[in-house]
Amino acid sequence: MKAHAAAAALEYVESGMILGLGSGSTAEIFIEQLGAALKTGALSGIRGVPTSAMTERAAQGAGVPLMPADQASRIDLTIDGADEVDGRFRLIKGGGGCLLREKIIAHASDRMIVVVDETKLVEMLGAFPLPVEVDPFAFTITAKKVFDALRASGAPRCDVALRRRGDGLEPFVTDGGHFILDCACGELPDPEAAARRLAAIPGVMEHGLFIGLARTVIVGEEDGAEVLEI
Ligand code: A5P
Repeated sequence: MKAHAAAAALEYVESGMILGLGSGSTAEIFIEQLGAALKTGALSGIRGVPTSAMTERAAQGAGVPLMPADQASRIDLTIDGADEVDGRFRLIKGGGGCLLREKIIAHASDRMIVVVDETKLVEMLGAFPLPVEVDPFAFTITAKKVFDALRASGAPRCDVALRRRGDGLEPFVTDGGHFILDCACGELPDPEAAARRLAAIPGVMEHGLFIGLARTVIVGEEDGAEVLEI
């Protein structure tokens, strides 16, 4: 399903584009397919701006030429995955811990195309714990503010957990040196209010609500892909 979504997204790529390269397994499948298209000559002159160290490695492995993010002043198109997508194309992202860089690149892009399998489509955001990237300094204070913000925006509950590395001992640290708080709310009835309140907390570097950024969502299915536009 992910491969079908990625292949449909590749149709939107034109030679010479500066491409934002998202993070996660679906984005990596897209990068492999992009690398193959560059090898055959079907596409040329592409430069990719990776949203994480993982993506940078994947792009290097696939032979996709890269442009360092600090040399990019604009981006034609970003292709990225998501953890949840609702009917208004509001997204939860950050399951892979790359949300700050993903949002910087998505926001700088003329167009963002989201590639997901159909399991990511939801009626209401929030079953997937919302990732919030925070400065490590005084993160317990920030975590309390994050809890208050999400409850005040209508979340029926909110369990805030510091994300840990695979060993379960040390905190997970993002490429930018921040921590991630995973906020299990069950439901986020007012994502705009949640986004506004989270953005106002000083220790919050960025939150995983991507609102108003995606206009195209490509849903991979068993036998193809469906392109949804708003
Ligand atoms: C990375 O931080 C996330 O935003 C990913 O885009 C998201 O987790 C989707 O990943 P998969 O494509 O692996 O499901």
